[in-house]
Formats: sequence, structure tokens, C-alpha cells
Amino acid sequence: MIQVAVMGHGVVGSGVTDILLKHTESIAKKVKEEINIKRVLDLREFPDSPIADRFTKDFNDIISDDEISIVVEVMGGLKPAYDFVKQCLEKGKSVVTSNKELVAAKGAELLEIAQKQNVNFLFEASVGGAIPIIRPLHQCLAANDIEKINGILNGTTNFILNKMINDNMSFEDALALAQEKGYAERNPAADIEGHDACRKICILASLVYGTHVYPESVHTEGITKVTLKDVEYAKAWGGAVKLIASARKNGDKQEIITAPMFVNNDCQLSNVDGVYNELLVRGDSSGTIGFYGRGAGKLPTASAVVADVMDCVLHKDERRNIMWKDGNGDNVLPYETYVHAMYVLCETNDSTASFAKANEIFGACEKITMEKAPSNELAFITPELSYADFTAKCAEFAKNADVKSSIRIAKI
Ligand code: HSE
Repeated sequence: MIQVAVMGHGVVGSGVTDILLKHTESIAKKVKEEINIKRVLDLREFPDSPIADRFTKDFNDIISDDEISIVVEVMGGLKPAYDFVKQCLEKGKSVVTSNKELVAAKGAELLEIAQKQNVNFLFEASVGGAIPIIRPLHQCLAANDIEKINGILNGTTNFILNKMINDNMSFEDALALAQEKGYAERNPAADIEGHDACRKICILASLVYGTHVYPESVHTEGITKVTLKDVEYAKAWGGAVKLIASARKNGDKQEIITAPMFVNNDCQLSNVDGVYNELLVRGDSSGTIGFYGRGAGKLPTASAVVADVMDCVLHKDERRNIMWKDGNGDNVLPYETYVHAMYVLCETNDSTASFAKANEIFGACEKITMEKAPSNELAFITPELSYADFTAKCAEFAKNADVKSSIRIAKI
């Protein structure tokens, strides 16, 4: 029998214990051994849990128990998760986590410890919830040079944007609903400011390009500055606003960014609704492959965690060779050099003159026509240009009109 401990009994943690208890027999058949939850670590009381007698508030009950060979970390955050996970790996226990903040901040270090101790450190659930993406990138697409990854990697923000567009719900109400459904982070600023999606693209970029990408090296914008007006203009243009996380190879370096972008209706990412995530990965041999599914929530995320636990059981005497080396950020190109067409919304007393000026400054622009738009509003799309170039030209244009918004056009 394999003895397992689960650290954290929140949304994902309770999903992990539910699945392990519900599918004990079928899981045992698949991994040829029964998995027993010996301990659950949480500071709260759960007297109604069917395994209430196995709860502990003391990490020592896990780290000093030599029978426990696999530890699931689903507490989230860095403190105390990092310290606990490190201790578990150093003690020779395999660790499975859904904690993207931990993997994005400490992945290289923890993988190295796992390698030294010949144990597994697995984190399929850290990106895309139920969607298999770590294993496919590491194994199934291993023969490819990954040219680019573009995705909607945060369920909460996608859910909020959808509720705002389709149900006319306010930002605040949509966020409250996402929290109620268990999609949002404990501190939802991580979702709406783009940090959660950034951590996930950092993990994927580290995995496919082999060098740790720290979130601090990646330009990150959230959805808090996106207005209903921007959303309406995106629709009038023939697309939707989505929070896009993107990593693309450029020579031996990468362009990595997380920001709201206009996605054209021609691209399937424009149709990803609610809490769903989708990733489009282009390999040089495979071409583009799509990965789609529920990106957040109790059971979808727990499904990926439990599969990793099963993998640990199946590979208890060997390591899954997931590895990347540490990095200092110099593999990430400065975001000011990334080239995008840009959506610009401005207010002006003379939209004909302002549009002529936009064409003069940016080059041939595409005007967005929207029914019932106020006459003092002008929205257009610039030709492709670097962000540094755009900033300089936009400052020049702002002498003629009051610029209200600018959003990148996604290059999927
Ligand atoms: N808060 C995250 C999201 C949870 O909304 O995508 C899943 O990582």
C-alpha cells in the first residue's frame, strides 16, 4: 500500500481526497497498488470529513513519517509551501503540486533537489487545470522545436470577460461569482492583474526552452484596464478581448508576455468561453496543436493532481526526467521590441482630421466602425510595429486626440 499525505484541504485539496476516496479501487487496479491517504494537513477542522481522524495541523506528522512516500501540496502560495515541499523532497518523498506560484518561482531549484534525491516533482495541475499540457510538451512533442505557445491560461479572467460581454454583468459581480465557484485565487489580484497567467506561461516556457523563466522577467498586464467600450470595439472589429499568455522563440531567446489582446474571430481562442482554457502550441514538425478544457475548479484541477500521484506510484523506482536549468532572465527579450498591430481608442473633436493624423503617424490604419458610436470617438488598428515605436508614435498622436485605450492585436 502506498501512503500519501495531502497538504491543504481547500478547493483543490478536498477534490483530491474526494477522487482518491471515490475511485480507490479503480485507481488501485491501474497502478497495481492501493493508495491510502494517511494524513491531511490543514489548520482548520473538518469534523464531517470521512477521514476526519487523519487530519493534522502539524507538518512534523508528515515529514517524520517514513511510510509516507508521496506528498501532495495544494496549499498554494509560497509560504509555507516552498519550505514544506523542499523538506519533503530532501527527505526523499516525491511531491505533486498544483501550485503554479511555487513552480514559477522555485521550479529549477526544486527539480534539482528531486533529481539529486531520485524522486519525482510533478506539477501537471499547475497549468491549465484538467488540461494535459506538461506531459504532452515534455513527452509527446519532445521531437519538436516549439516555435510558439499562445493561450488563455486563466479561467477567472476569461469567465469575467465573458460575463461582462454576454450577460452585461459588472466586473465586480463577475469576479464575486468566479470566487464563489472556486475559480479565483485566494487573492484574486493574481488573476485579474495577470500574474497567474504569467506564472503559467513561465512554467511552460521553462519546460520547452530548458531555462527557468522567472515571472519578474515577463511583461504582465491584467484585465483591470479593459473597459466595456474596448470589448464592444473588439466585437465590431470581428473579434474578442482575451487575456493572452504567449511565448515565442526568437533566435536563441524568447519573447514572453501576458496581456489582454484583441483576438480575431478566425482564431479559435476567440471562442473560448467561461472558465475554459485553451493553448495553441506550434512545433516545427507537428504544426499547431490545440489543448482545451476546464482550466480551474475543484475536480478538474484535482483530476490532474491525482493522475500525477498515480504516475509517482507507477514510477516509484525511477524519475520522470522533467528538468530545466536555472536562469537569470537574459533569455527573455525586452517586451518593447515585440511587434504587434495595436488597437487605439481616442476622443476627438474632429475624427476625420484625427484619423488622417493617425495614418500619417502610424502608417495605413484600419478604422473600426461601430453602430451608435458617439461622434467624438475614433477607434482604429495600426500596422504592426514594436511596442517602443508604438509608445513614441502614440505620444505624438496624443497631441491631436485624447487617447483612452490601446490594446495589442494577438499574433497567434
Ligand atoms: N485562479 C486560477 C484560474 C485557478 O482562474 O485559472 C487555476 O489555476
